[in-house]
Amino acid sequence: MSTPKWIDVTTENLYSLDHFVIPSHYEQEIESILIPHGIIMDRVEKLAKLIAADIPDVEEPSLVVCCVLKGGHQFFADLINQIKKLQTASGKSIKLSLEFLKVKSYHNEQSTGEVSFSLTKNELMYYKGKNILIVEDIIDTGRTMQKILEKLSEYEPASVKVTSLLIKKTPLSNGYIPDYVGFAIPDAFVVGYALDYNEHFRDLDHIAVISEHGKEAYAL
Ligand code: HPA
Ligand code: MG
Repeated sequence: MSTPKWIDVTTENLYSLDHFVIPSHYEQEIESILIPHGIIMDRVEKLAKLIAADIPDVEEPSLVVCCVLKGGHQFFADLINQIKKLQTASGKSIKLSLEFLKVKSYHNEQSTGEVSFSLTKNELMYYKGKNILIVEDIIDTGRTMQKILEKLSEYEPASVKVTSLLIKKTPLSNGYIPDYVGFAIPDAFVVGYALDYNEHFRDLDHIAVISEHGKEAYAL
């Protein structure tokens, strides 16, 4: 049997808050820890290796790494730090250029279904002929990524790959699966490691499940 593409995280291996350091301003607002920061970092190191191994080993290997803001920023920063250390099979370093795409599609726990791009047409033209890696925090319904991919394809990049740290096991999924996935998570609202609930919890290092109290405290 081949190894699954991701680590399957279930609600059976939740960690108690008491076993980790949590900022005191969030102690009441989270229920439990789903993925501790150290495990995230180890997984990111491996994803970087998988990604680098697939970069064409040409004269000047290069990649446009495109961060989906805001939730993707921490994964993006840590992933780039790992890819920078790596080389292609023939020992060449990989030139990275960094791009940022801003998308907002959540209100409380609900997807609004709208995706707004902050890049101008001129900025998108830059993607023509480039190898692009899109870096996302989480694939939930899959609709946001579908829209990003549709939009980018209009600008004729040489290739587009997607990495998402998380994929949610939800019946609302449209079936989209990224090229590189860190963890598959249960159908719960998660926060931390730059994932937010109405702009809160981005400053928590671990990925955690929000408590009922947290939902109420920060509802819009
Ligand atoms: N947490 C934070 N942001 C999200 C989630 C989630 O569970 N799903 C989609 N965006
Ligand atoms: Mg996101």
